[in-house]
Amino acid sequence: MKPSFIQPPQLLWESGAFSSTPLVQKSTCIQDLPDIFADERAWHALPADQVVYCVEMIDSSPAEGEFYTGVTHLNPGKVGNEFFMTRGHFHARREQGEVYFGLRGRGLLLLQNEAGEARLEEVFPGSVHIIPGFTAHRLINTGDEILSALAVWPGVAGHDYAALPQGFALRVVEENGEIMGKEVQNG
Ligand SMILES: [Fe+2]
Repeated sequence: MKPSFIQPPQLLWESGAFSSTPLVQKSTCIQDLPDIFADERAWHALPADQVVYCVEMIDSSPAEGEFYTGVTHLNPGKVGNEFFMTRGHFHARREQGEVYFGLRGRGLLLLQNEAGEARLEEVFPGSVHIIPGFTAHRLINTGDEILSALAVWPGVAGHDYAALPQGFALRVVEENGEIMGKEVQNG
């Protein structure tokens, strides 16, 4: 008997583009990110509908034991001197982790535990990032081209954006042509 082969979804590693599979897509614009960037004046000065990032994910089940697979494409740019970044989140199910893979562009992955301690990992084509449970995560594009990263996370993880009312403890800015991580003074 000749076996039949199932055609799986395909990802073009160089661009992060999926093909041949039903996708869920979501774009996040400047107007969707109030209170995220430090320089409110600079944020207001940008076009409200300017896309900061878009996510494409394979339409899959959120059931226990299943995985979501998606790519974030984060545009280059700055609000004032602060690099474009994703909103960032804890998972609603805090113990659930996630894996990111850098595909193109250059940037940083900002990780923060529940004690508010933050750290930065470099993101580049081929980088692998094991995000443990109980860890908030945000992508930051410090380069001149689109930063694309593949992510795989449990279907039950969910998102909790409200858990970071003070935001992250680090901001990544450009100062005198250098990429700098600056501690945020909260409270
Ligand atoms: Fe996540």
